[in-house]
Amino acid sequence: MADVLWFNGRFTTTDERLLGVEDRGFQFGDAVYEVFKFLQHRPIFLADHYRRLDRGLREIEITNPWSEQAFAEITRQLLARTASDDGIVYIQVSRGETPRAHFYPDNLAPTALMYSRRFAFPDEGKKERGIGVITTSDLRWLHCDVKSVNLLANVLAKKKAQRARADEALLLANGFVREGASSSFFAVRSGGLVTHPLDEHILPGVVRDRVIGLALAAKIRVDERPLRDTELLELDEAFITSTTQGVMPIAEIDGRIISNSRRGEITERLQRLLDEAEMRDVTPVEARGSARR
Ligand code: PDD
Repeated sequence: MADVLWFNGRFTTTDERLLGVEDRGFQFGDAVYEVFKFLQHRPIFLADHYRRLDRGLREIEITNPWSEQAFAEITRQLLARTASDDGIVYIQVSRGETPRAHFYPDNLAPTALMYSRRFAFPDEGKKERGIGVITTSDLRWLHCDVKSVNLLANVLAKKKAQRARADEALLLANGFVREGASSSFFAVRSGGLVTHPLDEHILPGVVRDRVIGLALAAKIRVDERPLRDTELLELDEAFITSTTQGVMPIAEIDGRIISNSRRGEITERLQRLLDEAEMRDVTPVEARGSARR
């Protein structure tokens, strides 16, 4: 079944071939993207995703095609046309289409699109079992805070993980753990969380940010500092976070078992808190009020 696609101002489906071969997103990776989750046709943490998209576009000087209101309205229409209740929306904005040259003309019209897709989010069994990860070198550039479509290093790391029958690759540089190839990374040590600080080496994950807020509200310590790779041998628990995986326990790192192969207590608590936070976006405030009465 074709997915619902919004492309440069009109709705169609992903069956339609639309992109020019000289689109700069295609030829240069000159584009940024976003992925948000929807449940029961409602977007989750939409404002956070808009904010990150807007910031990324600003950083690389591409004009944002949408005001926040226009963005919210188009996503509302997209989800209204989408058959599945739950899934993800992929958004991409490229600098636009122009005869190929590294120099680009000013004031190009960006190519903007978003489409919805059904997605199988992890079920309870997977959320309990967790995943295996490998470690590998971080071969990315020095602007990983921008969610650009230049994902070659991430894709190669991910393939390496797949060949090792693992689900994710943790990216290491100079003896420190940065993040996953498509996720943020958290360690649990002595009852508190450790995660890389926000800088040019990691993506400011929407779920990362939410999890930190939820942890602090629950009086769980959060230390935003780079974790040494040697500390991977001394973890009580570990998990990754992302839009598609939520809070996902790590059961094995490079074949070594973490947390006695059982989901850690703090990881489980944060899974529950994140699920509740997502449900607050699903249920409109008015409905929540009347449900309580
Ligand atoms: N990836 N770090 C990297 C490198 C990522 O690609 C992602 C997400 C994250 C987590 O960000 P968030 O919590 O905002 O999903 C961290 C998306 C889902 C993807 O590429 O499909």
